[in-house]
Amino acid sequence: MNTVEIIALKNKRKITMLTAYDYPIASLVDKAGIDIILVGDSLANVVLGLESTTQVGMPEMLHHAKAVNRGVKNALLVGDMPYSAYQLNPDESLANAQRFIVEAGCQAVKLEWFDNCLQVTEQIIQAGIPVMGHIGLTPQTADKIGGFKCQGKDAQAAKRLIDQAKELEKKGCFAIVLECLPDKIAELITKEIKIPTIGIGSGIHCDGQVLVINDLLGLFERYTPKFVKKYANLSGVILEAVENFKNEVLQEKFPAPEHSFTIKEEELKKIHGC
Ligand code: KIV
Repeated sequence: MNTVEIIALKNKRKITMLTAYDYPIASLVDKAGIDIILVGDSLANVVLGLESTTQVGMPEMLHHAKAVNRGVKNALLVGDMPYSAYQLNPDESLANAQRFIVEAGCQAVKLEWFDNCLQVTEQIIQAGIPVMGHIGLTPQTADKIGGFKCQGKDAQAAKRLIDQAKELEKKGCFAIVLECLPDKIAELITKEIKIPTIGIGSGIHCDGQVLVINDLLGLFERYTPKFVKKYANLSGVILEAVENFKNEVLQEKFPAPEHSFTIKEEELKKIHGC
């Protein structure tokens, strides 16, 4: 998949997007035919056990993006720019975006909306790097937008989000993530712009949907946002497997003969003889 193919899907069929942070999961997500794989900075919360996405930087993101890239054959691979790579250091934004492409093999980067967003987005796109926008609940600046809650609930706030989406389209973004918007506002934005909207907690009318893979798999238990649907309970599966291993080792049931290697009796005798 490339960004042109993603744009062409608008009004044809829904677009699917998931996060991945390592090789085995990326391989499976790709094999399942998901259109876009995002190496999200949600890495901080769901993989590294940190409190905030602002606590990951370029070294962690590149390390995981490289692993994900090894598992991706068909999906569009998008690297999520960490807070320090563009919001804290706008002057380094382009160089950091280039690192996702050159070092990690990503085809595009994603930026969350912030005060300087349009200028930074324009600079990256003009250098030839496709950008996915992200508006609404922007976790990197959650403290500035009233916390982790639905955005655009009154006309003024909704109008601001519609304007942001239009501005990002004008700058040349190939798609925009809409996080935690009322479904009617997400629908309005989706109809107003020609590039695809990818919703998370923003209702059914977006052009596509994204979830954090660990949420979908039931592999992150610290908290579960309202918009998450768990399609599996991997925490339960893993816990049961690990407890079974522990019990079988304690009860001397594992390893069984089929998991062990043997030596011929005559060779053993030679050792006993010496
Ligand atoms: O970091 C992330 O996982 C994201 C998705 C929720 C869109 O930005």
